[in-house]
Amino acid sequence: MRLRSHEWLRGRDELGFQHRGALRMLGLDMDRYEGEPVVGIASSWSELNPCDLTLRMTAEAVKTGVRRAGGIPLEFPVMGLGEDLMKPSAMMYRNLLAMQVEETLRACPLDGVVLLGGCDKTIPAQLMAAASADLPAIQLNAGPRPAGAWRGRRLGSGTDLWRLWDEVRSGRLVEEEFHEVEKALAAGPGACNVMGTASTMAAMAETLGVMPPGTGTPPAGSAGRLRDAESSGKRIVAMIAEDLRPSRLLTPDAFDNAIRALLALGGSTNAVLHLLALAGRAGVDLPLRRFDVLSRDIPCLVDLEPVGVGLVDDFESAGGVPALLKNLEPIMATDALTVTGRTWREELATVERPGPGAIRPLRDPVAASPTLAVLEGSLAPNGGVLKVAAATPALLRHEGPALVFDSYADLRARIDDPDLEVTAETVLVLRHAGPRGAPGMPEWGMIPIPKKLQQAGVRDMVRLSDARMSGTGFGTVVLHVAPEAAVGGPLALVRTGDRIALDTPARRLELLVPDEELARRRARWRPPDSPHHRGWPRVYIDTVLQADEGCDLDFLRPRDAAARRFVPPEVGRS
Ligand code: FES
Repeated sequence: MRLRSHEWLRGRDELGFQHRGALRMLGLDMDRYEGEPVVGIASSWSELNPCDLTLRMTAEAVKTGVRRAGGIPLEFPVMGLGEDLMKPSAMMYRNLLAMQVEETLRACPLDGVVLLGGCDKTIPAQLMAAASADLPAIQLNAGPRPAGAWRGRRLGSGTDLWRLWDEVRSGRLVEEEFHEVEKALAAGPGACNVMGTASTMAAMAETLGVMPPGTGTPPAGSAGRLRDAESSGKRIVAMIAEDLRPSRLLTPDAFDNAIRALLALGGSTNAVLHLLALAGRAGVDLPLRRFDVLSRDIPCLVDLEPVGVGLVDDFESAGGVPALLKNLEPIMATDALTVTGRTWREELATVERPGPGAIRPLRDPVAASPTLAVLEGSLAPNGGVLKVAAATPALLRHEGPALVFDSYADLRARIDDPDLEVTAETVLVLRHAGPRGAPGMPEWGMIPIPKKLQQAGVRDMVRLSDARMSGTGFGTVVLHVAPEAAVGGPLALVRTGDRIALDTPARRLELLVPDEELARRRARWRPPDSPHHRGWPRVYIDTVLQADEGCDLDFLRPRDAAARRFVPPEVGRS
């Protein structure tokens, strides 16, 4: 079988000499080279990101598996996207990581790749790269970190931080106690242990068939995870021989299955953006409205924070993604293929139906309401997303006056002002927090409840923005409003005092201002200045697509198949 790497390594001329010599310098005995497949291991390990710290061990286990199967493993570092430390948002760098992985695959003598990520944006970035390069690929993740414990209570990443911070702001928790919580929550390396974005994206990768079934949820650093990594190293060598590429996995059926799993998980709204972006790379037509169509039939079945009460280890104990999909099997497209080379029908034939616990059957959901709603209307012509399962039912139909914050800085400066004119009926609006406006669409969408209302016992209000929300977040929060304010979407025209109507059952989000008045405001609207005139932020602002298209860069997802084609390099002198 002719492999891509042979272009580099089999030549008898000075180029073959040079290329083999580069591998000899790693200590490889190229005298015994017989054309074995070369497997890249792309690892986002970084000390700037504790979520992915265990990936070094994972990479070693993958290498063992590759060698045992007769391949040559070559690990390479890729940008670590640490959600906690990167500002304004790791989301601004998702597409940069995707480019880095894709370009490394293009430029180097690799026949396949095992992708190692964990923290929120790493998995979607790596999957986007794999879809564009279309080389055999397996995605693995870091797995969830240990649960924190404080005063006999298990603490979930993110979700319990937000809840306890609200307690501090309302005066029910003192600073020393909050400091204890900070130490308790930092319980060890690994990804967030609730159904936040990292866990959701691992489940999406499993359901899409790109991550081996059952490998997404074991604890970070566990022996089982290392065994899975070794098996994946063996499997990628077989996939290269079978020419099993992402294009055979990332089909319309696979995306529908992933959306069904997202809904049943009560998963992160960020997955909506990532699936849209990935579908764009894979050439699959996936409109935002598809999430809403499928949400009508699939309630939340997984009882994990932030929608429910458990943590990812409860989900893992209940059987993880394969057990969830067993419950979804009657409504799944089970012909979809996985990296094992088997279909989901074949995979699920040996999976036990989950017993009582974190995974519920379709007839007994965690919440009867749909998990997500895609809203449209005069305030969001191209859509907005509400995580209904994490919202307050009484607020799903609401009309109230807007209180507009023009930027995140404006929000932080005024939200706790005792003189702020706000009531529980107010609709809090944040703008210029979208893909171009922030830039990078940070997770600012869970606007804090104003302190004076917190202290009065208000726990939720209708909030809306062009921002995102952490997968660990909750509340009646309309996100991803498109088009965003920075490109002149209707959000840019809202004024404090305007009335806004949210009607979730009708999927409407309306700005109740006469058209003539909006036209007057639009005539006066000017795009905001940006301080970014160079570097990646400039490229990002100039080319990022809106939320309803997944925030990829426009030139990375051309519409026609010919333009999407991965062009290999000329293997000549460098
Ligand atoms: Fe990295 Fe949650 S902050 S996985």
